[in-house]
Amino acid sequence: MYSQPVTSPVRKPLTPFRPGVGYAGSVANDNLGAARKAKNDEFYTQFHDIEKEMNAYLEYNPDVFRNKTVLLPCDDPEWSNFTKYFAQNFETLGLKKLVSTSYAPNSKPKELDLHPTLFELESPQYDETKTASNGKIYTLDRDLNGDNIINVDDLEWQYLDGDGDFRSDEITALRDQADIIITNPPFSLFREFLSWIVEADKQFVIIGNMNGITYKEAFPLIQQNRMWLGATNFNTGMYFTVPDGFVYASTYKFERQQNGKAVNRVPGIAWFSNIDHGRRHQPLPLMTKADNIKFSKHKEVKGIGYQSYDNYDAIEVSFTDAIPSDHEGVMGVPITFLDKYSPEQFEIVGTSDNGLVEDFVKKTPGLTQEFVDAYYKDGGKGAYQAGNPTAGLYRFGVAVMVYKRIFIRHRKTTK
Ligand SMILES: C[S@@+](CC[C@H](N)C(=O)[O-])C[C@H]1O[C@@H](n2cnc3c(N)ncnc32)[C@H](O)[C@@H]1O
Repeated sequence: MYSQPVTSPVRKPLTPFRPGVGYAGSVANDNLGAARKAKNDEFYTQFHDIEKEMNAYLEYNPDVFRNKTVLLPCDDPEWSNFTKYFAQNFETLGLKKLVSTSYAPNSKPKELDLHPTLFELESPQYDETKTASNGKIYTLDRDLNGDNIINVDDLEWQYLDGDGDFRSDEITALRDQADIIITNPPFSLFREFLSWIVEADKQFVIIGNMNGITYKEAFPLIQQNRMWLGATNFNTGMYFTVPDGFVYASTYKFERQQNGKAVNRVPGIAWFSNIDHGRRHQPLPLMTKADNIKFSKHKEVKGIGYQSYDNYDAIEVSFTDAIPSDHEGVMGVPITFLDKYSPEQFEIVGTSDNGLVEDFVKKTPGLTQEFVDAYYKDGGKGAYQAGNPTAGLYRFGVAVMVYKRIFIRHRKTTK
């Protein structure tokens, strides 16, 4: 299919190979929203973050990628570390085939000011029109240059027929042929991307925002143990490489350079997967309720204990490490709990965020009018109405709303 072999597109990127100068910096104010969105969709994952995460799956199952076709959609293979990682490790992982696709420059926000790389310009298959309007596909499945090893030097590329939109028939057909889908999808399309993978019933490892956990597309998968958090980087924020000319938010106070490249830290980022890893099978060490009241390091728990919600038949546990080991009923915990969630230890029965909760947990059909009235009388802010699924409780007699909770219960309590 690919008559023109190319050499080392990933290992030896040619310059200029990054999205162009003049990126968000030159954007007029009225375009700032679009630029922000564009910039968040153009964050590139660092090699060591990919390696660390993949190692966790390999540690659990050394053959996890063996004889598998891996698809990396939403990539820019010329500078993608996903492509680099899987091409470099093709033989060690025992891959059958690697396919990596990119999105056409014309389909990306125009603020990015993209130009073809020297590598593409010098390739025999370079096409003046297609370079802007078509995506690209890189494949690796054989020793093209006869050096007896399959690696980045054997990658072949051509233009896609379309623009590489993951939702197109062309990329969907590649999805259907793949065994595992791995990428950092555009943040703005996370929900759609997740549904796209799930409808094909594929294995996947993808990056997304933690807030995505309670989306209606995501939460049922988490609850049914059909998707879980990956093994690394949870709750620490992740640094992504950014395009040239990237303009930092005025409030940004983290590192701006790593390994000689401009980076931006994104908080609340996590890997999501349905491939098993060891960490999710490690139970969380916990104290009993009495011991928490005596010894908890949290002033909200020590000497106080746990309150019940007004509208849910559950107790509020504001800190994952304060989950009592001996509570028989349902407990509301912050979403960060999911980083410590072991399906052998706990059962998830819902979330307060959008009403995705099993009926037996509900005391009332949402917040009561009486509670909402008490909340505003006590000086509460925000827009709450009777019937909302938000968890509410009286803390020392004052009505308070509790931010996004996940409801869990022990599979087996320990005294
Ligand atoms: C967050 S970046 C990550 C890139 C790469 N996966 C990485 O981690 O280094 C997402 C990429 O998806 C591209 N993209 C945006 N919308 C897309 C779509 N509808 N279909 C395919 N790719 C898309 C963006 O242009 C961007 O290159």
